Amino acid sequence: MCGIVGYIGRQDAAPVVLEGLTRLEHRGYDSAGVAVLGSRGLRVAKQAGRVRDLTDALPRRFAGTTGIGHTRWATHGPATDANAHPHTDELERVAVVHNGILDNSAALRAELTAAGVELTSDTDTEVLAHLVARSDADTLEGKVRDALAAVVGTYGLAVVHADFPDRIVVARNGSPLVVGVGDKEMYVASDLAAIVRHTTTVAVLDDGEMATVTAAGFSTLRPSDLSATGKTASQVDVDASAYDAGEHESYMRKEMLEQPTTAQAVLRGRLDDRFGTAHLGGLDMDARDLRAVRRVKVLGCGSAYYVGQMGAGLIEELARIPADAEAASEFRYRDPVIEPDTLYVAVSQSGETIDTLLAVQEVRRKGGRCVGLVNVVGSAIARECDGGIYLHAGPEVAVASTKALTNMFLGFALLALQLGRVRDLSIADGRRLVAGLERLPAQIEEVLAGEDDLVEVARGLAEARSLFFIGRVRGFPVAREGAQKFKEISYCHAEAYQTSELKHGPLALIDPDVPTVAVVPHDELTERNVAALHEIAARQGPLVVVTHEEVDLGEVGARRIVVPRNEPELDPILLTIPLQLLAYHAAQHLGHDIDKPRNLAKSVTVE
Ligand code: AGP
Repeated sequence: MCGIVGYIGRQDAAPVVLEGLTRLEHRGYDSAGVAVLGSRGLRVAKQAGRVRDLTDALPRRFAGTTGIGHTRWATHGPATDANAHPHTDELERVAVVHNGILDNSAALRAELTAAGVELTSDTDTEVLAHLVARSDADTLEGKVRDALAAVVGTYGLAVVHADFPDRIVVARNGSPLVVGVGDKEMYVASDLAAIVRHTTTVAVLDDGEMATVTAAGFSTLRPSDLSATGKTASQVDVDASAYDAGEHESYMRKEMLEQPTTAQAVLRGRLDDRFGTAHLGGLDMDARDLRAVRRVKVLGCGSAYYVGQMGAGLIEELARIPADAEAASEFRYRDPVIEPDTLYVAVSQSGETIDTLLAVQEVRRKGGRCVGLVNVVGSAIARECDGGIYLHAGPEVAVASTKALTNMFLGFALLALQLGRVRDLSIADGRRLVAGLERLPAQIEEVLAGEDDLVEVARGLAEARSLFFIGRVRGFPVAREGAQKFKEISYCHAEAYQTSELKHGPLALIDPDVPTVAVVPHDELTERNVAALHEIAARQGPLVVVTHEEVDLGEVGARRIVVPRNEPELDPILLTIPLQLLAYHAAQHLGHDIDKPRNLAKSVTVE
């Protein structure tokens, strides 16, 4: 999704901004642009296409020590040079970059046109540049405040003005923005990844906050009256190298291989073998609060929703509390009943997914308690929640989520364990699960070590015009996540189904050209699962089965992928790992850009 980078200091701004933009490429974009303020006034270069194309096409003497840049993901108008940001006013004295969506842009465009302004793009953002330029305020902060007073919608934005070359003014409402502190130089960005090589001293703007950024520092303001909010920067604990792919051919591959280590990180210090439970201080709920929970509702989008289904299953199984998961993108539109004794759990890698954030706000607005399972520390969802569990997966760059997803599952396992142990989950069962969780990182490593055996299988699946992923109960969200990963990066049509539902319709599609990837763990449903495989085999449907050593598939002629067994409740995550590898190798076989799948963005910050 869109990205913002800004720089002000002693260096030439354009190279710093452009380098920052390349760090945001994985988020997904279709055009890029940069504006600098220098001795020749305001200069803008922007075009549809890649950041590297823009860098190559940069005009000569594109110099200036103040600059802002943007990668655009089209929302209003197609990916054209004119629609790329930065947008300027008619005199080209103001430049604006913007993430988010202005809901009343059509009305504002009409007003500006009626006032004689010639709009040059189809975007919602352009109105901001004109509104800033037309404000009578005598400071840039005042001009931006006036523009913001006229707009309705979400934004993270950065503004420069030729009359105020010593500053960048930024503002946030629903779309992330951080200010980074350097030595007599400052940075702004929509994502820490863009500036982490330069500084890890940052201030994260809150919604409804503005900031003035000069080479000497920054000050945060309330847009309403421009009074100071007094925010200071703090050190974030990140390792800049975590944002590099290193020797790996893609971030996705790096992140898949990191899973044994990152799985340890989410468990570290949270398991209590003595009492067979978990300690989750960040939840900010004591035993009495936990016991008062009568129902659990998990909210997330995409893969986070699917892993949320796994999590709801774990909670219901271990804590015997009714639990389910719902797509956060749908939740608030059905005017949900919010119950005081329901624990709402928002799950998100980025912590910035707008649909999930709005669902959290819906819960809290109606007085519900919402905790977060979030990877990015200090992100909007983490801050909006009443408490939560940080996932400690480290930065995840690839659009296709892998290590964060695994840690979401483990976060749910910890939550289920704690909820269970304040209820009827026995200490013996608690200890069994603690031991299972302790074994998991090594078992994930074991599954990853079998990667080479999956390459040919993945290539075969990549050739299919369409495929099914099937599973039952614990295995169904695994199948959903497997299909999701396959679709995202291979672009093959992959559909997830409950194995039990096949014969109620989709069996009609099974033929020798439609392979099925079946999740068949060794559990109480094995027999039923194997029976369904026979139905597929009878129709010559090719089968790939992710299963356990003990499972006898009979004569179905399937390609078996065997994973180690843990405790049945924890097996879903081990069954998920081979599906990541299958998707990865299918996409690689098809020659796709694995980290930047078409049409997708790492964090979806617009509705
Ligand atoms: C996962 O592979 C997908 N890229 C996507 O479904 C993702 O899980 C979803 O957009 C939610 O993102 P979040 O975890 O950052 O909220």
